[in-house]
Amino acid sequence: MCGIVGYVGQKDAVPLLMDGLKRLEYRGYDSAGIAVHTAGDMATRICVGRLSELEDSLEKRPLQGRPGIGHTRWATHGEPSEKNSHPHLDGSGRIAVVHNGIIENYQDLRNELEAAGHTFLSDTDTEVIPHLIEQELAGGAEDFEAALLRALRRARGAYALGILFKDDPDTVYAARLGSPLIVGLGQNENYIASDVPAILKHIRQVIYLNDGEIAVLKQDQVLVKDLDGRAVHHEPKTVDMAPEATERAGFETFMLKEMHEQPRVLRSLLEKHVSGHARVQLPEVGFSEDYFQILRRIMIVSCGTAYHAAMYGKFLMEHLTGLAVETDLGSEFRYRSPRIERDTLFIAVSQSGETADTLASLRLARLKKCKVLSICNVPGSSLVRDSDSVMFTDAGPEIGVASTKAYTAQLMAFALLSIHIGRARDEITEEQEKELVAALEGIPDAIHYMLERADHIRAIADKHHDGPSALYLGRRFNYPTALEGALKNKEISYQHAEGYAAGEMKHGPIALINEYLPVVCICTRTEDEVYDKMISNMKEVEARHGRIIAIATDGDKQVASIAEDIIYVPETREEFSPLINVVALQLLAYYAAHARGTDIDKPRNLAKSVTVE
Ligand code: M6R
Repeated sequence: MCGIVGYVGQKDAVPLLMDGLKRLEYRGYDSAGIAVHTAGDMATRICVGRLSELEDSLEKRPLQGRPGIGHTRWATHGEPSEKNSHPHLDGSGRIAVVHNGIIENYQDLRNELEAAGHTFLSDTDTEVIPHLIEQELAGGAEDFEAALLRALRRARGAYALGILFKDDPDTVYAARLGSPLIVGLGQNENYIASDVPAILKHIRQVIYLNDGEIAVLKQDQVLVKDLDGRAVHHEPKTVDMAPEATERAGFETFMLKEMHEQPRVLRSLLEKHVSGHARVQLPEVGFSEDYFQILRRIMIVSCGTAYHAAMYGKFLMEHLTGLAVETDLGSEFRYRSPRIERDTLFIAVSQSGETADTLASLRLARLKKCKVLSICNVPGSSLVRDSDSVMFTDAGPEIGVASTKAYTAQLMAFALLSIHIGRARDEITEEQEKELVAALEGIPDAIHYMLERADHIRAIADKHHDGPSALYLGRRFNYPTALEGALKNKEISYQHAEGYAAGEMKHGPIALINEYLPVVCICTRTEDEVYDKMISNMKEVEARHGRIIAIATDGDKQVASIAEDIIYVPETREEFSPLINVVALQLLAYYAAHARGTDIDKPRNLAKSVTVE
C-alpha cells in the first residue's frame, strides 16, 4: 500500500526521495509524488503510473531542494489520477501532506471545512489533513506543531503522515496512528519511511513510532511527542539488516532471489531452534511447558498466503499436539461472533506485521485477555509490538509481492512450534521428536534440489500457461498447498486459478474439467489411504480428459502413468511435504508469469503490505 519517505539534512532531497520511493515500489502503487523546499518556496511533482514517469518529468524539469517528502499511492478514495496523487496541499499551498491509511471521518471534516470556505481539489480522504491544519492555524494555534496536534486530535481512522510547512524550511513533521512509519537516524540527517529497507542505505538506527505519536525532525534532532504534545522518550534501535539484503543480487527478479533463499532461511531457523540433542527449543517464544500443558485451544488468524500457513499449522498442531485448533481470516474474524476465551492461545501470522485485518483481530483477542503469539518476519512491526510473544521467521526482507520464503519460513515455524508443544503435552515421545527433527533437517536440501529442477518446471509452465484457468488439488497437509499454489499463480500470472480440497472436486469443480483445463494434482506419497484417494481423484480428472500436472514423490510410476506432466519431489514425511511441494508450485507460477510477460515483482493492483481493511 502507500509508501512514505522523507528527508531532512544538507543533501539534495530529490534523489534520496526517489531512491527511497523505488525501494518502496514493492508495496504496490499507482501514482507517486514528492514535495521539497526550494529557495524560499515549496515545489511538488507528481505522476500517474510508475515512478519512471516521475523520473522523466524530473529530467525534463529538474528540481533540487531540501528537506522533502515523497509518496507512492495505492488508490483507496478516488481513482489513480494527477488530482488524487500525493502530496496534497492546503488552500494556501503552504502545507504539503503525504499519507498512508484512511481518514474515516473525512467526509464530515470535509463538509465542515467546505462550509468554512475551503476548496478541495481531489477525491481523497487525505486532503482534509492539510486543510484542517490550515484551519487550526487560522483559528489561533500558536505554531505549526500545535496546529498539527489539534488537527490530528480530530482525525479518526489510520494514518502515517509526512508533512512540510513552507514557512518552516528546516523541518519534516511526521505522525502515526495505525499505519507503519519509522524515523531513521543518520549523521547530521534524519529520515522518515514506511519501512526500514527504504532508507537502509543511509541509517543504522531507527525509532519505531507508536500509534498516537508525532515526530519533529530537524537535521540534528528528532523530538517525539504524544498527541497532547508531551515529549516521549524512545531508545533508538539498531537495525540488524545488511544493505545487500534489499538488492536483487544478480537475479532477474526479487521473487526468484527469494525462492532461492529458502534453503538458507530454513536451515538457519532450524539451527536457531534445534539443540544438539535434536530437541526443539523456543526460548524467544517464552511460554513455559506448564502453560502448554494447561492450554485448551489455539486460534490462528491471518490473511492471504499467511492464512494458508495457518491452515497448515492447524492440521499439524492437531496432529502433533492433540489441541483443538481453529483458523480464521483476519477480514472475517471480527465480523462473526468468535468464542475467544482466556485459555485460548491466539496466534497471528504475518510476513509484514502490518496487515490491518490481522492486527485488528489480534487487538480483539487482547481485549478478551488471551495470550497472543505472533509468527512474524519484521522486527519492530506493529504486530510484534502488540504481541505477548513472537516467533520470528527470520527470512530477511521479502520484496517480491508474492510471498515465497516468508511462507516456507512460516511453515517451518509451525512445524517447530507443533513439535515443541507436542512434547510439552506428552503427545509425542523423545524418540518421535528426534525422527521429526531429522525429517525437518532434510528439508533445506530437498528445496535446493527442487530449485535445481527449475528448467523442467519452466518447460511445463511454458506448455500450460496460456489457458484461461487452472485447478489445483491436494488433500490433508497439502490442501493448503493447493490453495497457495493457486494463489501464487493468479497473483503473478493473472491466470485464473482455483485451489480445492481434492475430495471436494466432485461437489462442483469437476464440471470445469475438459481437455483444455490444466489440473495440478499434489500426490506425494503418504503412509495411509490419502495417497490412494488422491490417485482416485486424478483418475476422475483423467477420465474427463483434464490435463494433469502431478507433483509426485521421486520415482512414483503410478502417478506418472496417469499424469500428462510430472514434477518429482524428494521423499519426506507427509507432514513436512508441503514445504517442498510448494516450491514446485512457486516455480510453476513464476514461469507461467514469465511466459505471460507480467511484472512479476509488482503484480497489478496488489500491495505487499495491506495496511487498510
Ligand atoms: O504481510 P502479511 O503476511 O500479513 O500479508 C498477508 C497477505 O496480504 C499476503 O500473504 C498476500 O496474500 C501475498 N501477496 C501472497 O503472496
